[in-house]
Amino acid sequence: MKRITIFDTTLRDGEQSPGASLYPAEKVRAALQLARLGVDVIEPGFPASSPGDFAAVQEISRTVQGVEICGFARAMRGDIDAAVEATKDAARRRLHLFISSSQIHLDFQLRKGRDEVLKMATDMVAYARQFVERIEFSPMDATRTGDEFLIEMVEAVIAAGATIINIPDTVGYALPQEYGDMFRRVRTQARGGESVEYSAHCHNDLGLAVANSMAAIDNGATHVEATINGIGERAGNCSLEELVMAIETRKETLQWETGIQFDQIYDTSRLISRLMNFPIAYNKAVVGRNAFSHEAGIHQDGLLKNRNTYEIMDPEALGIPRNMIILGKHSGRHALKNRVGEFGVQVSDAQLDALFVNFKKMADDQKRVSDDQLISLVGETVDIMIDPYTLLDIQVVTSNQMSRMASVTVRDNATGEEASYSGTGEGPVEALIHCIKQAIPLDVEFADLELHSIASGETASGEAAVMITVDGEPYRGVGIDRDVIMAVSRAFMSACNHAVRANAKDAAASVTV
Ligand code: KIV
Ligand code: ZN
Repeated sequence: MKRITIFDTTLRDGEQSPGASLYPAEKVRAALQLARLGVDVIEPGFPASSPGDFAAVQEISRTVQGVEICGFARAMRGDIDAAVEATKDAARRRLHLFISSSQIHLDFQLRKGRDEVLKMATDMVAYARQFVERIEFSPMDATRTGDEFLIEMVEAVIAAGATIINIPDTVGYALPQEYGDMFRRVRTQARGGESVEYSAHCHNDLGLAVANSMAAIDNGATHVEATINGIGERAGNCSLEELVMAIETRKETLQWETGIQFDQIYDTSRLISRLMNFPIAYNKAVVGRNAFSHEAGIHQDGLLKNRNTYEIMDPEALGIPRNMIILGKHSGRHALKNRVGEFGVQVSDAQLDALFVNFKKMADDQKRVSDDQLISLVGETVDIMIDPYTLLDIQVVTSNQMSRMASVTVRDNATGEEASYSGTGEGPVEALIHCIKQAIPLDVEFADLELHSIASGETASGEAAVMITVDGEPYRGVGIDRDVIMAVSRAFMSACNHAVRANAKDAAASVTV
């Protein structure tokens, strides 16, 4: 197997995505998670660009263990000095220098001739090499440079001391075959080309970044630069999770491997999306919320018989909670029975018939049926109580003058007792969460909230997905309602009910033991 070095540039090139910038402490948090994910190299920022980025790169160099840290710099002394200083405490490091090589960049951006640019590149590589052993060099806009000057520049920087040659497709213009061939030509035609390592860096303007990176590997690249969720300038960079899952899923054919800990993929993707305020497209490969969701009845039926019928990856192996069968108007009886069974309820054929009729009515009306709604449908249709707790009523007072106040009434279904709780918060959701938490006999942490509209227009329902943790274990709940505050409360309650049921099962198991 050929070992591929995964170079993560989420915190440098990814951060160049509009609106995605991070505070230093957020970068440190993200870098720790990237190390947990098992990336080989982290490029945490551009030290010369701001004091904040300098501080982030410095702190990450000091605290994040087990990865190589890359200091990014233009081919300029000031940038190199900043990158050398910011990364000096890293156990392993490289510097990454770049300068444009395409004629259009030389004419309109640098306004310099080829000889001058070549001299800057070689002088700065030699300068950087005095401080750091591993020097990566990128001819920016390489794919629109043309072989002659590209090879001349690569030869010159290798002679000056570069040890890794990165060939960026800066504007996402290349086609896979072309990009692969370019690597082969540079590797075989540039003097000294066989003595260095090669890296691919692709942008996704034509949606080809992953395919191009794979073509580069096929032609000698051993490093790939990628970002979590494919975040980056314009249409983004090569998506790290897509690349590594293509390599893993098709390893028999490709004979490549990475050091990625696959079970960290989902958590890393969520963390980056949250920190960078960057939502993930529903249909995004590997980490999108629909990537493992099945609504068609035929697919759901096949999956329940054998998941390989419609899935090529196991979402649980990526840390994605398996609750991915979406109950909607295309779902069949098999999926409905299975989901109800997951709550420990066995229904007779007659009960399933009645439940199915009511379920289809609800699904037709609002497109999807959440677990919370299914549970109440089961209660209403076949009179079986699944949830330990039921949210009977909520009231919230919002005002721009004072904290939000809320009160809720919750029924304990085991005893039938109803109790009311009140609380405050800076927003209505916080106030309600404070109330509901008082009813739940567990130490619940609110971890994540996603809110979406599931139709268009003023009468659309809101769908809330809430993630909580109890003793570090995640539980998810979904709530749908025309009132978004109600949807969030339901989703939170549903997640708490999952946790209470799971903890009750654990307690019963330990008594049996
Ligand atoms: O896209 C690009 O060219 C870059 C580098 C400067 C490597 O991000
Ligand atoms: Zn880039």
